[in-house]
Amino acid sequence: MDKLLITGGVRLEGEVPISGAKNAALPILCAALLSAEPVTFTNVPRLKDVGTLLRLLEQMGVKVERDGETVTLDAAQIAEPVATYEMVKTMRASVLVLGPLAARCGEARVSLPGGCAIGARPVDQHIKGLEAMGAEVKVEHGYVHVKAPHLKGTRIVTDMVTVTGTENLMMAACLADGETIIENAAREPEVVDLANCLNAMGAKITGAGFDVIRVVGVPALHGATHRIMPDRIETGTYLCAAAVTGGKVRLTGALTSSLDAVIVKLIEAGCQIQSEPDAIRLVAPPRLTAIDLRTAPYPAFPTDMQAQFMALDCVAEGSAMIRETIFENRFMHAVELQRLGAEIRIDGNTAMVQGVEKLEGATVMATDLRASASLVIAGLVAEGETTIERIYHLDRGYERLEEKLSALGARVRRAS
Ligand code: UD1
Repeated sequence: MDKLLITGGVRLEGEVPISGAKNAALPILCAALLSAEPVTFTNVPRLKDVGTLLRLLEQMGVKVERDGETVTLDAAQIAEPVATYEMVKTMRASVLVLGPLAARCGEARVSLPGGCAIGARPVDQHIKGLEAMGAEVKVEHGYVHVKAPHLKGTRIVTDMVTVTGTENLMMAACLADGETIIENAAREPEVVDLANCLNAMGAKITGAGFDVIRVVGVPALHGATHRIMPDRIETGTYLCAAAVTGGKVRLTGALTSSLDAVIVKLIEAGCQIQSEPDAIRLVAPPRLTAIDLRTAPYPAFPTDMQAQFMALDCVAEGSAMIRETIFENRFMHAVELQRLGAEIRIDGNTAMVQGVEKLEGATVMATDLRASASLVIAGLVAEGETTIERIYHLDRGYERLEEKLSALGARVRRAS
């Protein structure tokens, strides 16, 4: 199993490009299932999760052509509307095939994802929404079986804001009879990117980016070309990496408007941020100020940036309170950060972080994708060498991580 070795203490400086967004690419690639015509996607990040999803689509009979960051999917024939446990257990986002398969094939058999390192993560809202649209859903032997010969537009109010739930229902509604109204919808920029792609394929969606989304069903979607939006979490992660090392970076191909809550916190911590039409610059102070934060659905502070900000607070001046409101078990990185010398106390969904003068390199274990990113950030500022084990998590969501960090001057290498 690969590990990452980081020698801390280098101020990050320079320019790196931001890749296409993982959390936009995954639902958008699934959208190809809704059309019998080929759909082409550009700016598709080269990530393990994307590879997993393409394999899953291939298993169903979708023709996949990949040339670097361009992927063309032809779902003229869907032989088997099935996502097995073997696929879903490696990547929860596989559940995003449920809505499109139900709509296009009138049936689907998708494994329940089960829990993961950060919490229980049920899919009851996806199921309730499909049932409201007239689907017959049975959960048997760990699989969700959907029969939906005629999905009908309806009004759906989700119990909580769910990103992939909103995406699944929005995709299913594209081919339903009549109008579907999704209330309490997720407003994440990735939902908007998916809606833009679906509309380019002939769907009739309005309201994406707001908490009420309206979808007027159409008989069929056609082919299209769509460019995946930049990854706001990757952008935020590099901003944090630069901030913690007192660095100065310019990230190209970034979309600043999707990062407001993160930028506000970086400015509060003492960084200077400058937005350009297609890039973002950060200049860090010699020492950051600790900042409180509370995660919540977009446009509030993203849970996917919580771990990275905890790493910042660990070496900042003062103390900070971090509240995680989305996932019940998303502080796994705290104990690993403590191994580097961080002072963190956890009480339920709240972490109290007391900034220390310095962290010291040690061997730590990555537990999930964003937790891994926080360990990388801590390793960049820790004295001596930090070894991060189980970095396959990082490969799921960060394209060419070592290459990009090295381009900014970091001393980082991968070892088997
Ligand atoms: C997506 C993101 C993930 C991010 C998360 C929250 C993708 C591929 N993944 O995950 O990176 O951390 O949003 O911003 O886009 N819930 C239920 N029942 C449901 C659905 C959700 O109880 O049917 C709960 C979850 O357990 C969680 C909360 O709702 O506590 C939000 O989860 P959700 O927005 O659905 O997360 P994902 O879409 O899985």
